[in-house]
Amino acid sequence: MAGTLNFVAGVSLRGVTKRFGDVTAVENLSLEVNEGEFAVLVGPSGCGKTTALRLIAGLEELTAGEITIGGRVVNDVPPKDRDIAMVFQSYALYPHMNVFENMSFGLRIRLLRSFWWRMSHPKEAAKRRERIESLVRKTARLLGLEDLLRRRPRQLSGGERQRVALGRAIVREPQVFLMDEPLSNLDAKLRVQMRSELMRLHRQLGITTVYVTHDQVEAMTMGDRIAVLKGGVLQQYATPDVLYRQPANAFVGSFIGTPPMNQLEAEVRDGVALVAGAELPVPDGARSLASVLVGIRPEAFRPQGPGVQLKPKVDVVEPLGATKTVYLRLGESDLTASLRADVPTPEGAELPLWILPEDVHFFDPGTGDAIR
Ligand SMILES: Nc1ncnc2c1ncn2[C@@H]1O[C@H](COP(=O)(O)OP(=O)(O)OP(=O)(O)O)[C@@H](O)[C@H]1O
Ligand SMILES: [Mg+2]
Repeated sequence: MAGTLNFVAGVSLRGVTKRFGDVTAVENLSLEVNEGEFAVLVGPSGCGKTTALRLIAGLEELTAGEITIGGRVVNDVPPKDRDIAMVFQSYALYPHMNVFENMSFGLRIRLLRSFWWRMSHPKEAAKRRERIESLVRKTARLLGLEDLLRRRPRQLSGGERQRVALGRAIVREPQVFLMDEPLSNLDAKLRVQMRSELMRLHRQLGITTVYVTHDQVEAMTMGDRIAVLKGGVLQQYATPDVLYRQPANAFVGSFIGTPPMNQLEAEVRDGVALVAGAELPVPDGARSLASVLVGIRPEAFRPQGPGVQLKPKVDVVEPLGATKTVYLRLGESDLTASLRADVPTPEGAELPLWILPEDVHFFDPGTGDAIR
């Protein structure tokens, strides 16, 4: 199919705003999705992900701004003419149709038109039927569904049904895929498996994709770039690596990564932040502040030096196999550390931990913005 695509389109949003009455679901969103890129929109419930996707699809009207697909402004283009295919969380398949019929339904409607058209164009109709058949078979092969084409949806597992829904979108050969939490109906194991299948598919087809999820792990593993939204406002749009290493603000810092980043407010004195007696050198931008938000990822703690030592007390330990999550108390604050399973962490005992200054994040306690 990659070969038959005439072209793959990028998507761009410029100053896109959507209001429902006095609710601003999406506010002044600007986002560039390159041709063939897999972009993820992520954020907590109600942050505007679905609305942003529906705006790209043309299912909602913009309050302000501009959306282009393949360089063409589509603000006034109806959904069916935008050359997109959408996969939703609730991907209703037709229960009375088998897999082949479900996958080919849209194509048959579009290409075979009406009974009377087929009667008056028998040759062309036959040619198109063949094309549909070959496209559906090819897609079914790609998705591992070839042996299931005669089955009804109720005779399929959740994962297989999900693949049929995807197949139905793929056979349309869109320029852009829009996916809204397409894996959220699946159990955890199947979700992980479908995630890698989707990525393999994306590598094969190379179709520009905008994928919505509230799951930051899914976002991190799938996205070429990830847009983090909060309250309808874009917080940061970057590669997984940059989001993790250089979060633009405290929200992104704690949203990306599990367990979430520790964030402690600390007094600043003489160029250092004081965290329970330990001194962490602050960047220049924080020297004039009275206090700063110190961000330390649980996995940044080390059981040995070098670095700055903290002496928290072990509260609760959660073993996870190769690693464990250790919940600690440091003065008045709670801390979380991810450590290797073989590090001794007796509950109730003091546990010296070290951090490298370069692993520490600093945020403005007022605005939440990162200080570098
Ligand atoms: N048709 C509508 N009328 C009024 N308000 C709406 C409408 N659709 C969405 N909203 C509001 O807009 C905001 C964003 O909704 P949206 O569905 O885009 O969130 P989301 O990020 O997809 O959330 P979730 O993760 O729960 O699916 C919410 O506050 C929601 O209540
Ligand atoms: Mg949603």
